[in-house]
Parts: sequence; C-alpha cells; structure tokens
Amino acid sequence: MVDSETGQVSEDAAMIYEAVYLPALFKEWCPRVLAAADVKSGHHVVDIACGTGALAIAVSKKVAPNGETVGIDINEGMLDIARSKSFSVEWINAPAEALPFNDEHFDCVVSQFGLMYFENQESAIREMMRVLKPGGSLAVVVWDRLDNNPGLAAEEYLWRQIFDDEVDETPYRLGDKRALESLFRKSGVANVQITTHEGTASFDSIESWIHTGAKGWTEDDALSDDQLQLLLKTAEEELTSFRTSNGAVAFPTSAHIVTARK
Ligand SMILES: C[S@@+](CC[C@H](N)C(=O)[O-])C[C@H]1O[C@@H](n2cnc3c(N)ncnc32)[C@H](O)[C@@H]1O
Repeated sequence: MVDSETGQVSEDAAMIYEAVYLPALFKEWCPRVLAAADVKSGHHVVDIACGTGALAIAVSKKVAPNGETVGIDINEGMLDIARSKSFSVEWINAPAEALPFNDEHFDCVVSQFGLMYFENQESAIREMMRVLKPGGSLAVVVWDRLDNNPGLAAEEYLWRQIFDDEVDETPYRLGDKRALESLFRKSGVANVQITTHEGTASFDSIESWIHTGAKGWTEDDALSDDQLQLLLKTAEEELTSFRTSNGAVAFPTSAHIVTARK
C-alpha cells in the first residue's frame, strides 16, 4: 500500500499537519468524541491512530487525576510531536491491528479519522473490542462520503483537473453508512450506532488551505515548486466560493461517529 492509502506522512508534513491541518479540520471533533464515548474522570482510555495527539490530550484532561490515557500510532513523526505536547499521555508506536494491551483493559476506546487508513480495518476493530472492558464504550469518527463534503471535494477535483490524476478516495472510503455499519458488524460489533455530524473547516486563506493539502499530508514531496505555484494560482481563481468576506476560508464538513458498547 502507498503512503496516501495508509496515511503515512514525513516529519516535515507532520509539523504542518499539527500547525495548520489539525486546528483547521480535526480538532473540533475531539469534544464530540469525548461525549460520544462518555469519557469520565478515572477512566482508562486509549486513542487509536492518535496522530499528533489532540484527542488523547483532551482525554487525559477529562480522566484526570486518577485515569490513564494511552495514544497509539504507527507514524514516528506524528508521535514525536505528540510526545513534545504532553507527559500526561503514554505514547506508543504500535499498529491498530495488533494492540499491545491485555484483554478488557480500557473503559473507552476512541479514534478519529484513522480507520480509513488501516491496512486491515476488520482486525483493528476486533482489537478495539478485545481491549475494552465489558460495558466499555467505543467511539470512532470517519469522514462522510466525498459528495457530502463539498469543500474537500472541490480541493480533490482541482488536483485532478490540473495534474490529470485520480481523485484520492481513501479518506472518504468509509463514508457510506450502510457499508460502515456492515464493516463493524462483520468485525463482531453487534450494537453499532452511527450518527452524522456537521463540522466547519476554517483556513486563514485559500493559499493556506491548498498549501496545507499539498505539504501537510501524505504526498508532500509529490509536487515540484512550479506545480505547487500552478496549483495555488488556479485555486485562487477556482475556489473563490469558499472565501469569506475577510479573505479566510470556511466550508462545512460531514463525518460519521460510530459508537458501541461492549
Ligand atoms: C488523519 S490522521 C488522524 C490523526 C489524529 N487522530 C487526529 O485526529 O489528528 C490519521 C492517522 O492514522 C495513523 N495510522 C494509519 N494507519 C495506522 C495503523 N494501522 N495503526 C495505527 N495508526 C495508523 C496515521 O499514522 C495518522 O497519524
């Protein structure tokens, strides 16, 4: 599998992810996941595919002072940034498909925007359930389909238009609710609930949005300087409908939160 399918970024891209992508697109989902998983003080919680750690750090504040928070990911660049942000979380490099924990250890398992990238999604879900205590709660967030995410779709189509490339559907491949439910059921989760939520993506400018997509995610060395300039110039012309009156960018996003009790 290539990096874009497994969500693997370079150290440089991880820094841009942390500085711009996280606040623009992902961070607002953390309180929703905490609420969906019903994380409480004293709980033992693991964040699967923790990236640079925003969700795990939010968890650690909620479970304090006697709880336990662990964040796992397979990307060392992401984990390095997470380690620099908090000592209240135990950060572990491990794959979601083989969690290094005993059975029935955690009260809650949470994960946001990672499942789409796992090489074996079924094994990962089985692992999440294995490490949950009986009665424990699971909350997993994935993007809705690309056609329900118009801003992100416009960005994808712009790339395709300029570079005659295929749209990268990986981030949206669990967007179909029926298929998502069936994935959890065939992974042994009986009582799945899926709710769809609207978020808001916000970037300082069209340039910041498109630059972050090019340099803050998986294929940061894919474009030459000239190609990046062409992409930025075309974006300024084609994506004006996403610009707010003060020159920033805002557009709605849509994601599914999957919850279950063991
Ligand atoms: C879009 S990022 C989301 C990170 C974080 N949850 C957040 O909300 O900012 C996806 C993450 O999934 C991780 N990932 C991909 N495959 C994985 C696997 N098999 N096991 C653990 N983490 C994985 C990537 O390394 C990356 O950090």
